[in-house]
Amino acid sequence: MRIPRKMEHVHHALQQGISGAQGFRDIRLLPNCLPGISSDRISLVTGIGELTLSSPILINAMTGGARETEEINRELAAAARETGLAMAVGSQMSALKNPEVASSYRIVRQVNPEGIIFGNLGSEATLDQAKRAVEMLRADALQIHLNVMQELIMPEGDRDFTGMLERIHTIVEGVGVPVIVKEVGFGMVRESAERLLQTGAAAIDVGGAGGTNFAAIENARRARPMEWLNDWGCPTAIALLEVLEARPGTEGRSTPVIATGGITGALDAAKALVLGASAVGMAGAMLRVQREEGTEALIGFIESLHAELRLVMTALGASTVEELHLMPAVITGDTAQWCSARSID
Ligand code: FNR
Repeated sequence: MRIPRKMEHVHHALQQGISGAQGFRDIRLLPNCLPGISSDRISLVTGIGELTLSSPILINAMTGGARETEEINRELAAAARETGLAMAVGSQMSALKNPEVASSYRIVRQVNPEGIIFGNLGSEATLDQAKRAVEMLRADALQIHLNVMQELIMPEGDRDFTGMLERIHTIVEGVGVPVIVKEVGFGMVRESAERLLQTGAAAIDVGGAGGTNFAAIENARRARPMEWLNDWGCPTAIALLEVLEARPGTEGRSTPVIATGGITGALDAAKALVLGASAVGMAGAMLRVQREEGTEALIGFIESLHAELRLVMTALGASTVEELHLMPAVITGDTAQWCSARSID
């Protein structure tokens, strides 16, 4: 990856407005006028496989690989440390190819020595690269990102998508930490998730459309934009329902699913958890608050998210994330039509 591209991504991600097209408007939570619980007994603890997280919200993969991105990672890591959030770094391939930039990733572990940190690589990575990426951060888990459409829109992007599942399987078997397979904002559907689950991945992050839009970002960088691809992908609410449908049904033994893509507030986070997500990833929203208002503001934003999540959980009568999974929701609009066309219950 060319280094300037990293800051271009940050710049274009910040330029994008919030489309709100992640589909959560179609999800309605049912009011409960007899919640039977007390706000001060609510727990936000959740699990992703063997990892226990004190919050279901995580700062998802964004950056690293250049001086400016080191500063961003340092500030995001400080906010993660102060609020107890898990945090992923951006793709570490640049540091594997050019060790001089490794400090822009390592800073995250230096700032937050006890925190839960995820490494990140693309599916072109070898097992050896995956091990080195984990070592670089003493990472608690490794994310493998899938970003086919982003690569296809980039003139310098990959064109060979053979062997992805096989490489992921090899990494899952050998890397020694849980592997989370994620999309970057185009979403996944049941058929892809079923195949990914066969690799033994510890979790799937649906990375749906409706938030940061990498088709639009890459088009903004192209001399000849292919804007007809800007709507490519599957909104997050739909991708979440698709991926949940792919899991083997055994109660309590299902692979955890993370919902990311256009989530900016507690209500949408709660909706994702009610649908069945174990955690909610936020990238663009965290970046925007940090860059525009600073790290203290980001800490305040995350604390508000936690307070608001507790408020919604109290109103629903759910004192844990597991209890949220049992809450009813009504699915309306395009999402309902999609589910019916795809026979998703
Ligand atoms: C990203 N994202 C990302 N994902 C990944 O797996 N590796 C990466 O290197 C990056 N790089 C990156 C840079 C920037 C500036 C942003 C904003 C995002 C994708 C990110 O993790 C997430 O999946 C999407 O951004 C969708 O979530 P939001 O932004 O809509 O909350």
